Amino acid sequence: MTAKIAVLAGDGIGPEVVEQGLKVLEKTAQKFNLSLEFTPARVGGAAIDQEGTALPAATLQICQNSDAVFFGSVGGPQWEKLPPEQQPERAALLPLRQTFNLYANLRPAILFKQLKNASPLRADIIGEGFDLLILRELTSGIYFGQPKGRADDKAFDTLSYRVPEIVRIAKVAFAAARKRRKKVTSIDKANVLTTSVMWREVVVEVAKDYPDVALEHMYIDNAAMQLIKNPRQFDVVLCDNMFGDILSDEASMLTGSIGMLPSASLSDGNFGLYEPSGGSAPDIAGQNIANPIAQILSAALLCKYSLGRPDAHDTIFSAVNQVLDENYRTRDIMSAGCQEVSTSQMGELICGKI
Ligand code: NAD
Ligand code: IPM
Ligand code: MN
Repeated sequence: MTAKIAVLAGDGIGPEVVEQGLKVLEKTAQKFNLSLEFTPARVGGAAIDQEGTALPAATLQICQNSDAVFFGSVGGPQWEKLPPEQQPERAALLPLRQTFNLYANLRPAILFKQLKNASPLRADIIGEGFDLLILRELTSGIYFGQPKGRADDKAFDTLSYRVPEIVRIAKVAFAAARKRRKKVTSIDKANVLTTSVMWREVVVEVAKDYPDVALEHMYIDNAAMQLIKNPRQFDVVLCDNMFGDILSDEASMLTGSIGMLPSASLSDGNFGLYEPSGGSAPDIAGQNIANPIAQILSAALLCKYSLGRPDAHDTIFSAVNQVLDENYRTRDIMSAGCQEVSTSQMGELICGKI
């Protein structure tokens, strides 16, 4: 059976890193005899420039007809003067997440042992390294709560959650922890926010079905600090939409670079959207220096979750490991004694190991 993959490269470094991700997917498909059909579609600023809208109907249709979406990134200074609701992030990425009910955003933050020197953490804090999973609720919370708006000298967003929205993401957290080190740290601000008080109550309820998994609660401000003090204490970090956004960028840097952090946005079935956790990086776009590894590891997650091929995932992961073993680095993760390579060279090198 052929798996259909919509390819939405988007803006900034998006097209550069997506090209490397596609090379890796094609090589992986050859190796495992998978039949993949790629359909490119415009999204974000690129779509605004060509068609006047960030998420053209044809693009949405292609996604609807696909088994997965391979997404680069959207946004940039060119489009920041548009009315906020027409900008790429709010007019394309958020509607895609909402349309496909992609409520579970998995952001695995893994320190590859070869990148200990690229991490800003001290060697004694890194120890043998860390492997944590930021699990971010992606279709509710302050991003989507209504009302939002402006009136006179006031602007407002609404932070709201419904119990079933918390139940379903909490179940994903406990199920994931069960396959890992059996610990969930639930992040909230229950000392201030009413939604957090309910979040905590609901997570405690769900936890009763997973007695083999340890649950702890942590305030977001403390969590931001603890991540740096001792990232090894964490296994699955369960967050609402906004806290997960912020903690995942923080966690990415601990692994060496935002260019290392992939993501999978999932719903209840096999459909998923796969994108790096970082953005379009306008400051380095067009220079062939961006790190494609987050995009390539997102391709690995696509194999695992949408194609049901953990073996293909592991092969891509191991290819990345081997290239890092040989001391090839993009600029963002460069350190002494290593050889700097471009975006496309990194993609080639990883393909060569598949
Ligand atoms: P960003 O993640 O694009 O960039 C932050 C910093 O990280 C920059 O210095 C950038 O050069 C660096 N960086 C990011 N990815 C990198 C990579 N693969 N390799 C090397 N360095 C990398 O965040 P920002 O600057 O806050 O946002 C820029 C634009 O991207 C904005 O328009 C923002 O809204 C958008 N954005 C889009 C997405 C998405 O499409 N999923 C995610 C985040 C930000
Ligand atoms: C991310 C990004 C997006 C978010 C923006 C671009 C809407 O920062 O995927 O982390 O905040 O979710
Ligand atoms: Mn973000």
